[in-house]
Amino acid sequence: MKRAFVVGYPISHSRSPLIHGFWLKELGIQGSYERIAVEPAAFQAFATTLADRGFAGGNVTVPHKEAAFRLASVDDPVARDLEAVNTLWFEDGVLKGMNTDVAGFLANLDQEAPGWSDNLRRAVVLGAGGASRAILYGLIQRGAAEILLINRTLERAEALARHFGSKVKALAWDQAETALEGADLLVNTTSLGMKGQPPLDLDLSHLPKSALVTDIVYVPLETPLLAAARRFGLATVDGLGMLLHQAVPGFERWFGARPEVTPQLRALVLADIEAQAG
Ligand code: ATR
Repeated sequence: MKRAFVVGYPISHSRSPLIHGFWLKELGIQGSYERIAVEPAAFQAFATTLADRGFAGGNVTVPHKEAAFRLASVDDPVARDLEAVNTLWFEDGVLKGMNTDVAGFLANLDQEAPGWSDNLRRAVVLGAGGASRAILYGLIQRGAAEILLINRTLERAEALARHFGSKVKALAWDQAETALEGADLLVNTTSLGMKGQPPLDLDLSHLPKSALVTDIVYVPLETPLLAAARRFGLATVDGLGMLLHQAVPGFERWFGARPEVTPQLRALVLADIEAQAG
């Protein structure tokens, strides 16, 4: 029986076991996927003894993604650019690492808004943390001509703009609304709008009617930002699909079959989110 895991600290809220458990059952594969809490000081020992404990690999989440990048052998250009690994597996006895966040973000938009990147002139990205970095990578890969990057702490946006080059322009938070003019895409990568956090309060009337709005927050599924976009008649894509799609490549490596992101899987994870929301 093949065994996989998700490791983080804390890890109790991870929905990855639900996702992989669904696929194992659906595909009739004998396998397991477990949650493992590992403190930062113990991560290296954990990662270097995985094979001894019979694991085929697993997912890595906060706060271990950077340590996993340093400990694994990494050929994946995405993980090398982000200096973060979220998926580990063994290849010829070697612990390998990749990052599937970019693929997950792109696959979600491809599935929910086909053609979204066909003529991407201007994208506006809110937030400049780890998630933002993955999204900038993906947007550049898809040929975005210009990305306006807006963050409360301007210096973090400027550092990312330097990293990615001249297509990415850093702007202060108070310039967000004017930045929306002429944008084809708006992406929220901040934690604003998440359950327990303040809403993201932005006047979307500056966006063209053809713009697409997406949020990486998925609790609640319809964030205040997405609700406002819908009221303006704009196309929206929620963040749940990114979580589901980023899980696909790991499952395929560990268990040898490529799973699909189906409405049934979405409904299962959504029910769990709603149960938690009470
Ligand atoms: P992640 O890796 O998930 O992107 P992060 O690195 O903690 O997480 O980044 C969180 C993002 O949300 C940052 O862009 C942060 O802005 P700062 O860089 O100024 O901290 C943004 N964010 C969090 N709370 C915010 C708030 N109340 N207002 C505006 N931005 C906020």
